[in-house]
Amino acid sequence: MLNLIDFSALLKTETVGRSKVNELHDVIDSTNTRMATLSREGVPEGTIVFARQQTAGRGRLGRQWISPPNSGLYMSVLLRPEQAVGELPVITLGVGVAVTKAIFAIAGLHVGLKWVNDIICDGKKVGGILAEMPSGEKNKPALVIGIGINTTFDPNDVPEELKEKMYWLEAATGTSINTNELAAEICFQLEEVYTAMTRRETAKILDEWRAFSVTLGQEIVCTTPSREIRGTAIDVTDTGALIIQTATGREHLLGGEISIRTAGGSYV
Ligand code: BTN
Repeated sequence: MLNLIDFSALLKTETVGRSKVNELHDVIDSTNTRMATLSREGVPEGTIVFARQQTAGRGRLGRQWISPPNSGLYMSVLLRPEQAVGELPVITLGVGVAVTKAIFAIAGLHVGLKWVNDIICDGKKVGGILAEMPSGEKNKPALVIGIGINTTFDPNDVPEELKEKMYWLEAATGTSINTNELAAEICFQLEEVYTAMTRRETAKILDEWRAFSVTLGQEIVCTTPSREIRGTAIDVTDTGALIIQTATGREHLLGGEISIRTAGGSYV
């Protein structure tokens, strides 16, 4: 079971996860919400909040992140990046790269990245990333990186409407996952990516994202509040926007969610 002593003993990092004020909650509403509060109180970069269960776990686009007890890794990491706000989306792509590498290192599983940051295995979602900038921050700009990875789900905890879309690492690998090892490896990979970003090696991170992508080359559809964009995802820009080739030209998608066309012609 996730615990701070085993996690700390496994750490290979300089900063990420090394804070003296890391927290592990048995139950909390949302680790991202808690980290936003800690961030405003001035906790250092690299601080982590973990939970064994979240009662109000949050996903992207206002969705719920289902977080039953000891079924997944629920963690939020605080970064205080020097980069301009416009460059932050690339950091979140980099977090996807870090999580993908960590899952391979610990579970031996090749997962893919669906733009922006869904962690995908066999076409289903095993994890996601929610990057938020806390409001009312008096110190340096802060970025709360929330990471949720499904590890050991009881199928009874999966709502009917998500059964086709949701997956967990133990089902995919047939082996048990040590969440302390996974958490420590995510910290290591995240620090690698973050250091590269700080050294302005963005191109390398984007290339890794492209290599792990299950989006590029696919026919996609994206519904925004004002319209629907259909086309082929061909690349990401230097700032992390998705480039879509449509029938009439090229569009840059900055946010929202895409659906990918399957071989059967439906979009998932
Ligand atoms: C997504 O929608 O794909 C992002 C999911 C992010 C979930 C994680 S779990 C830990 C952290 N705390 C939250 O409330 N959300 C993130």
